[in-house]
Amino acid sequence: MELARSVALKAINGSSSTGIFNTRWAHLCRVQSQRIRAYSALMSPPSKAVVYDREGAPEAVTKVIELPAVEVKENDVCVKMLAAPINPSDINRIQGVYPVRPQVPAVGGYEGVGEVYSVGSAVTGVAPGDWVIPSPPSFGDSIIQNGATSIVGQCIIQIARFRGIHSINIIRDRAGSDEAKEKLKKIGADEVFTERQLEVKNVKSLLTNVPEPALGFNCVGGNSASLVLKFLRQGGTMVTYGGMSKKPITVSTSSFIFKDLSLKGFWLQKWMSSDKAIECRTMIDYLLCLVREGKLKYEYELVPFKDFQVGLSKALGLQGSHPKQVIKF
Ligand SMILES: NC(=O)c1ccc[n+]([C@@H]2O[C@H](COP(=O)([O-])OP(=O)(O)OC[C@H]3O[C@@H](n4cnc5c(N)ncnc54)[C@H](OP(=O)(O)O)[C@@H]3O)[C@@H](O)[C@H]2O)c1
Repeated sequence: MELARSVALKAINGSSSTGIFNTRWAHLCRVQSQRIRAYSALMSPPSKAVVYDREGAPEAVTKVIELPAVEVKENDVCVKMLAAPINPSDINRIQGVYPVRPQVPAVGGYEGVGEVYSVGSAVTGVAPGDWVIPSPPSFGDSIIQNGATSIVGQCIIQIARFRGIHSINIIRDRAGSDEAKEKLKKIGADEVFTERQLEVKNVKSLLTNVPEPALGFNCVGGNSASLVLKFLRQGGTMVTYGGMSKKPITVSTSSFIFKDLSLKGFWLQKWMSSDKAIECRTMIDYLLCLVREGKLKYEYELVPFKDFQVGLSKALGLQGSHPKQVIKF
């Protein structure tokens, strides 16, 4: 068989992009796209999938089910699966003995080849008729962060969104947290939780259709940092760039031994030092471009210089939470 074109796709959910047996239509896969076109309400055809809702002997726990048509959103690609192998790793995942496993219920299988059936209005990289393969769940599938209401947090959400990366966001419990959640979802957050909502045994059970993140961002510390670590997948990394709660980060011994997590820090001032000048300039130009194009927005309040004390008191949180205070001279 000849491949018309083979393009690696990033699956919305690595585990559900291909079915291992008779899956006729794959779930939607998302590709990165630069060009935004008009919204279209395209629907996928009805499909079948091999699913299992608990781990166990594959022959006992898998079943073929009919899936209803779903909307093909602007950055989605609807793929008709042509062939998919049943690999030992697929079997081990279903049995529950593979180290990295999807949450159940899940669609079995990770590999295969499919034909693009239809594409969302913003997709430019592939076209109907192209043959594609799913890329393995990669570093970029999802990220987890705390302090998501901060300007940095809002930027992370938006950049992740237009790069096709899911974002899981943690905010603190405070007056107005419901409104804060809605705002973050409007700018592209996939999931937003308050710390209290995450007081459950298995935080990952709260995720719907979002892959386990390999990268976490922490600007709070204390319990909030522990929550970021809980979401990370095997071998994941948490980058700490702030400590808003002023509480230390506590990491369990098992997180290092069994999850092989890594902790790193980031300090802008150091990064902007002369040996990184070109890298830094390129990044700043890129971000400014996004701002100019209206793709990167953040909430702030302009404060006349004469009202500096008012701005300072808001920035200190003495009057509850406020957007970033920007002094205007
Ligand atoms: N490492 C670096 O080079 C670097 C560079 C820039 C910024 N930063 C750090 O990045 C973080 C965000 O900066 P930003 O300018 O984007 O922030 P910002 O827009 O001023 O927002 C402040 C954030 O901190 C949260 N917060 C305030 N007090 C808190 C507390 N006691 N416990 C938990 N959360 C608290 C606020 O949550 P609410 O919305 O709930 O009030 C809000 O999300 C800060 O920690 C800052 O120091 C680091």
